[in-house]
Amino acid sequence: MKTYRIASVPGDGIGVDVTVEARKVLDRAAGKFGFSLSWTEFDWSCERYTRTGSMMPDDGVEQLSAFDAILLGAVGFPGVPDHVSLWGLLIPVRRAFAQYVNLRPVRLLPGTTSVLAGRKAEELEMVIVRENSEGEYSAIGGRHNTGQPSEFVLQESVFTRVGVERIIRYAFELARTREGRVCSATKSNGLIHSMPFWDEIFAEVAAEFPEVHSEQCHVDALAARMVQAPERLDVVVASNLFGDILSDLAAAITGGLGMAPSGNINPSGEHPSMFEAVHGSAPDIAGQGIANPVAQILAAAMMLEHLGETVAAQAIRAAVDRTLGDRTAVTPDLGGTATTARLGSVVADQLA
Ligand code: NAD
Ligand code: IPM
Ligand code: MN
Repeated sequence: MKTYRIASVPGDGIGVDVTVEARKVLDRAAGKFGFSLSWTEFDWSCERYTRTGSMMPDDGVEQLSAFDAILLGAVGFPGVPDHVSLWGLLIPVRRAFAQYVNLRPVRLLPGTTSVLAGRKAEELEMVIVRENSEGEYSAIGGRHNTGQPSEFVLQESVFTRVGVERIIRYAFELARTREGRVCSATKSNGLIHSMPFWDEIFAEVAAEFPEVHSEQCHVDALAARMVQAPERLDVVVASNLFGDILSDLAAAITGGLGMAPSGNINPSGEHPSMFEAVHGSAPDIAGQGIANPVAQILAAAMMLEHLGETVAAQAIRAAVDRTLGDRTAVTPDLGGTATTARLGSVVADQLA
């Protein structure tokens, strides 16, 4: 029997609650589909930071490199500044493992209560291909003239030819397996160096894929289009920051942050990929047992897909769809009264 070694990093807040449920569903799927999962759990978190002064050990990345995949809950909690916690765990892992693709698929799920819930499911199915290793997320810059009236900060962006080209090419290759349309999020009217460069490389790569329809759209207008005409979108390729913002919006129109999964993908397979929900640690509802675990369960399904367990992944998605039709099984964000644990258990039972 095939055994996969999985690192689980539940992290902070509801990351812990939803990861328990994703593991419940994965273990059930493993039993049913004839593979096994060997779990190792890491307590890396803000709580660890408070205790030891670091989010993860110095050799944290090295420890993770031994695994076939990583399931991450969420990172960040009040008490530790966000830039400290995130740059101490999530962002270094994405970069060390060259997880340069952040894949964020959304589709309209049954039982959703979003503003666009009246749409047909086939009108609302897209994937955001977010650049995940450079761009606006940069530690280059600094604070100057501190305390003076002329005080200012500089926050640099870094867009490399290699980095931009590979994410755009990934988007086109993915589009070929879907509806064959790519829309690039740009902002070359406001950003005079980075985005014209992005657009130039987009046009170059687009020329290699004549069978794929390509267009670019300023990110502000794209946000509006995502709400008003989502049926015109298939693959959306975006820089790190634009992709971050658009993916919360895409989650919102398909039922909320509790529903949207994400994969930090290392396409070469040289390093492990990492799967997590799009949402964060939700301190406002942490520890109350009401977080929606669907996003994390769907992220776990993406992980199985990535490992080659396609049938099991599809079965989990189908189990989620069946569960969401049952109002007694869903959490308060979807208008129900179920707990996190109940929703997880119902999805696991639906697999059987
Ligand atoms: P958030 O996604 O944690 O929460 C935003 C809102 O959505 C909150 O009202 C929350 O209750 C709700 N929500 C989120 N997930 C939900 C779920 N599964 N079920 C029901 N409701 C849900 O975003 P935030 O408040 O901006 O961030 C909180 C912390 O998480 C910060 O420290 C932030 O930096 C961190 N964060 C981490 C990740 C990550 O680890 N990948 C992602 C986003 C935010
Ligand atoms: C996400 C999160 C992270 C990001 C933060 C917490 C650094 O918002 O995974 O979407 O922006 O990448
Ligand atoms: Mn985000």
